[in-house]
Amino acid sequence: MRELFRIDRQNYNPEGKVYRRPSARAIIVKDGRVLLNHLSKFDCYEFPGGGIEAGETPERALRREVAEETGRIVVPESVREFGIVIRRQRDGKDPDGIFEQENYYYFCEVTDECVPRKPDEHEVLDGAEPVWVESLALPIHRNRKAFERFGEPFIQRETRVMDMADEALRRQSWEMAEEAAIWSLGSADYRGMLSFVERTLKAAQTEGEREIGMHKLEFGYTRYEHTKRVLGWAKRLYDATADKTGLRYEDLMIATIFHDVGRAVWAQSGEDHAKAGMSITRDWLLSNGYAPARAEYIAGLVGSHSEKWRMRDAAIDRNLLMLMEADLLDDMGLLGIVMDTMIVRARKTDATFYDCYSHYERYTHPMQHDCPLVTPEARALWDAKTESTDRFIEQYRKDILLGAENYTGYR
Ligand SMILES: [Fe+2]
Ligand SMILES: [Fe+2]
Repeated sequence: MRELFRIDRQNYNPEGKVYRRPSARAIIVKDGRVLLNHLSKFDCYEFPGGGIEAGETPERALRREVAEETGRIVVPESVREFGIVIRRQRDGKDPDGIFEQENYYYFCEVTDECVPRKPDEHEVLDGAEPVWVESLALPIHRNRKAFERFGEPFIQRETRVMDMADEALRRQSWEMAEEAAIWSLGSADYRGMLSFVERTLKAAQTEGEREIGMHKLEFGYTRYEHTKRVLGWAKRLYDATADKTGLRYEDLMIATIFHDVGRAVWAQSGEDHAKAGMSITRDWLLSNGYAPARAEYIAGLVGSHSEKWRMRDAAIDRNLLMLMEADLLDDMGLLGIVMDTMIVRARKTDATFYDCYSHYERYTHPMQHDCPLVTPEARALWDAKTESTDRFIEQYRKDILLGAENYTGYR
């Protein structure tokens, strides 16, 4: 099992006799929740688990401990290794000895069945009670406070493991949600298209310079992440639109996936990214068996997507319009606020809260109030986003400006 980390007090005689007390601990996940033990004595949380008895395998000890402490039955096939934490310190009973504890952590699931709990004396004293939590973030927060108060090494150990498990679980559920979303798009090879676009954009970033943001400043904005968000908006717009005359769902999804692939070329040559994307799209579709007329149509959507002035043209192709609207919806709202904050910071490394505030009022706010979208469905989504930024900017001004109550701007 891989080592997560090691806690070595180095307060022992390295030649001393080693006393081992290995333990097994369970990170139990079910329906997006995690089962922990809450210890009322410290108001902290720990993963269920305990000492491995002589002749017991770690997994067997895991099942026994989980049943005793939480009354739940571990699903044997669900057990997966997470990692090991090693603790070494002077032994409590033999001052010349070394106490070494290997804590084996496993991810696992439990059945719906409940059996009577059998807490040991220690657990009763600590006030241990099993609780399901929605997320590990709050237990981690509480544990940090508990460690400050009590300084118990086991709290520190559990907190560090929780932090690592939280990151792993979060990433995993994010990926699963994304996977489900891609699957729900339909039967075309959207996954294959997305990975082609991802590879193409990434290759450009490693060969050439990293993509330079629209403000000629570098910050962590990647076109592939933008593409996935725009895809989400296009799907939402399509679903929200009752009259689907002239809309071609699959063509729209494909064009959206490819719409910014030309940034890969543009980043290096300065060629128009939409036109560059048009030929990349056409090539991919033709070599993947799409009929030439259809490939041409989809590539055409990509090639025109940056001509945003055409949105006002009543005769515009509805798929092109929807792609443009989805594209414009992405950088707006609170995401726009966060992005603008990164831009301010990239321009000025010592940017203050006031600098951000000033940028929001002078740039973000007017831009978000100049809605270029045309269809009522897209405008409704835009308005909801704008409302959240308005509220944010209003509160933010109050938070940072001493005279906020008297502030009238230019009014
Ligand atoms: Fe674009
Ligand atoms: Fe875009």
